Amino acid sequence: MTDNIRYIGVNDHDIDLFEGQYIVPNGMAYNSYLILDEKVAVMDTVDQRKAGDYFANLEAALEGRTPDYLVVSHVEPDHASSVKLFTEKYPAAKIVGNAKTIQFLANYFDLTGTEFITVKDGDTLSLGQHQLTFVLAPMVHWPEVMMTYESTEKVLFSADGFGKFGALDVEEDWDCEARRYYFNIVGKFGVQVQSVLKKAAGLEISTICPLHGPILTDTIPHVLELYNIWSSYGVESEGVFIAYASIYGNTKNAALKLKALLESRGCPKVAITDLAREDMAEALEDAFRYGKVVLAASSYNGGVMPFMEDFLHHLKAKNYQKRTIGLMENGTWAPSAAKAMKETLAAFKDITVLEPAVTIRGALKETDLPALEALADELMK
Ligand code: FEO
Repeated sequence: MTDNIRYIGVNDHDIDLFEGQYIVPNGMAYNSYLILDEKVAVMDTVDQRKAGDYFANLEAALEGRTPDYLVVSHVEPDHASSVKLFTEKYPAAKIVGNAKTIQFLANYFDLTGTEFITVKDGDTLSLGQHQLTFVLAPMVHWPEVMMTYESTEKVLFSADGFGKFGALDVEEDWDCEARRYYFNIVGKFGVQVQSVLKKAAGLEISTICPLHGPILTDTIPHVLELYNIWSSYGVESEGVFIAYASIYGNTKNAALKLKALLESRGCPKVAITDLAREDMAEALEDAFRYGKVVLAASSYNGGVMPFMEDFLHHLKAKNYQKRTIGLMENGTWAPSAAKAMKETLAAFKDITVLEPAVTIRGALKETDLPALEALADELMK
């Protein structure tokens, strides 16, 4: 990175599900950084899955020196599960964290014998030329999370903030996998992210060093703008997102017909997903990306098809809000999906449900088209 700040993180292409739930087709990066000065600081460790590679990187970068400090930004095991190994390897190093960091670490390890430095928001630590200021960022993504600002080289070590899925040896679009990461990992905590963005606005930042994903320099204004939209639950892209849960393909046909009707009306983008077969985390991301969403589902056991029920549960858990939603249901004898979806959505904040819901009975027929056209017209307003 620079003469005195070095990247010592690792890529993980062996992981099947990140956090036990998210598919990561291009793997995952666990980032860690080393600051070499009169004092030597290590900024976080990595998931113990890659401890061997990690300690090899650290040893090489240390060039014979020994760490004085290990700053722990976040205790989640994808970063902190190697802390115990670190203290065994470098017993003289002091762990720097806030009161919660130290409390949480004790839930994972017995660190008896390790010295801790407890910091509060705004506290500083001098390494020599490099000056660290600690910025508490609770709930971005756990309560103990803190960022660290290094004022000499103007580097923000941002913990999970500004991270993305994907290993660093794979080229891919930042926005796409950072958005999927953001909404699934910290989407619920928009208020807390807004609060950190306000703190960051007062800092001159040349480089952002997150704990996942690439180091950011030239794109900082762009990523800050996206984070502002995402954390305020704003609309990032014009268009409509259609999510469907279909048993025999008839609801899917209706969803595809609606897509065609929207496109024929000049809708700038119509994204569509099959909730039973495509990545739920990606569907969640698209639901936040667009301002207008259509939920199309088969009726099932007097309610709604389970994949749609599951999707609504995910949206609720991530504090989904400020959107306009159209509903389509299918039911041969007693359609129940729209009622079930409406009842669930009633507990959401600031959601406008378009009326009436479209009801299909079995196969999509010519007689259904006026209702689909009316929904398309509403969505284009
Ligand atoms: Fe990358 Fe919340 O851990």
